[in-house]
Amino acid sequence: MRKKIVVTGGTGYIGSHTVVELVASGFDVVIIDNLFNSDITVLDGIHAITGVRPRFYDYDICDLTQLESVFAAEGQVDAIIHFAAYKAVGESVRKPLEYYRNNLVSLMNLLDMMERHNTPALVFSSSCTVYGQPDELPVTELSQVKEAASPYGYTKQAGEIIIRDTMAARPSQTAVSLRYFNPIGAHPTALIGEQPHGVPENLVPFITQTAIGIRDELKVFGNDYDTPDGSCIRDYLHVVDLARAHVMALQRMLEGKNKANYEVFNLGMGKGVSVLEAITAFEKATGVRLKYSVTGRRAGDIEKIWADPSLANRELHWKTEISIEEAMETAWRWENKLKNR
Ligand code: NAD
Ligand code: WQD
Repeated sequence: MRKKIVVTGGTGYIGSHTVVELVASGFDVVIIDNLFNSDITVLDGIHAITGVRPRFYDYDICDLTQLESVFAAEGQVDAIIHFAAYKAVGESVRKPLEYYRNNLVSLMNLLDMMERHNTPALVFSSSCTVYGQPDELPVTELSQVKEAASPYGYTKQAGEIIIRDTMAARPSQTAVSLRYFNPIGAHPTALIGEQPHGVPENLVPFITQTAIGIRDELKVFGNDYDTPDGSCIRDYLHVVDLARAHVMALQRMLEGKNKANYEVFNLGMGKGVSVLEAITAFEKATGVRLKYSVTGRRAGDIEKIWADPSLANRELHWKTEISIEEAMETAWRWENKLKNR
């Protein structure tokens, strides 16, 4: 019997890539997404890649009645992967209550479903944002969780605590929080990828939109940081590598190989890359010269952060396999695909 996985936010950027990997690994996938930040055509992309069109519910996870109807209709669910959330850091400062409500009510509703419907396992999308500016690099899972820089960041910190405390009260269930560093790139088929609405806040979509002519130039936010070239440093990883980590974390839990019923893993390449190095990687991978200039620092930016992913390497038997140049190349191919739609 195939294991059934409910994927919330499964038509979103990371969710859709994870659905592809889940289907390829033989899971029966059910997606719930209210299409707030994604498009129904993503299902066509998933179908074209995998040959499977997962069952899809256009429902809001914050609506308990809708959620209950999914779990009633689907019968036994073996695990939930919870991607659905609002994720724009800047917007969360302007609309904090919307972020707290959407990101936390959705999580609490799913934890309710797990109890009512005996769903044994949960994977939660957390973020390196929980570390703030770390005192020591690279960051391990034991590094201090710092004051968050935004309401969005607090929703991830609070989400982790809600899961930790709930799992402490439910010894027969298991959960993991996966702290993603900076996912970039698109599926190598260019059939799914990131589709930011409006002006992108994130670096790589801004780079590809500039290269294709949607934006005039990339503004590099600061070159006076305490880093070798003065620009900020991040840990960029390809979204397919990230997607594979979900399958590995899930399989480990379903096989009962987890060491505790609540665990946390960093997911990154383990390598710091500066903004200027990321631009060079894009140019090298694509042969396209990028127009950019340096401007002032962006408020709230962390100077430098990268992961120590050794716990995930060891426990999940996962490591990144795709280079930043390959990631840039897939992002570029996807941007070109979007243009021709
Ligand atoms: P995304 O916006 O592309 O995907 C999220 C999906 O959730 C969207 O399809 C949206 O329509 C859906 N959604 C939101 N609220 C919903 C609700 N109440 N009910 C049903 N569907 C809802 O975002 P993403 O980049 O794929 O991120 C996925 C998860 O990973 C999020 O939890 C995000 O906070 C986390 N994360 C993302 C990054 C990143 O850089 N992309 C980094 C760290 C963590
Ligand atoms: C990367 C680097 C910018 C745009 C965000 C969220 C965080 C997490 C990951 C979800 C930074 C620089 C960017 C531009 C630039 N997401 N930059 N010009 O800041 O690491 O984090 O995504 O959990 O919570 O805050 O990612 O892609 O926005 O920026 O110079 O136009 O690129 O200053 O150094 P960031 P990012």
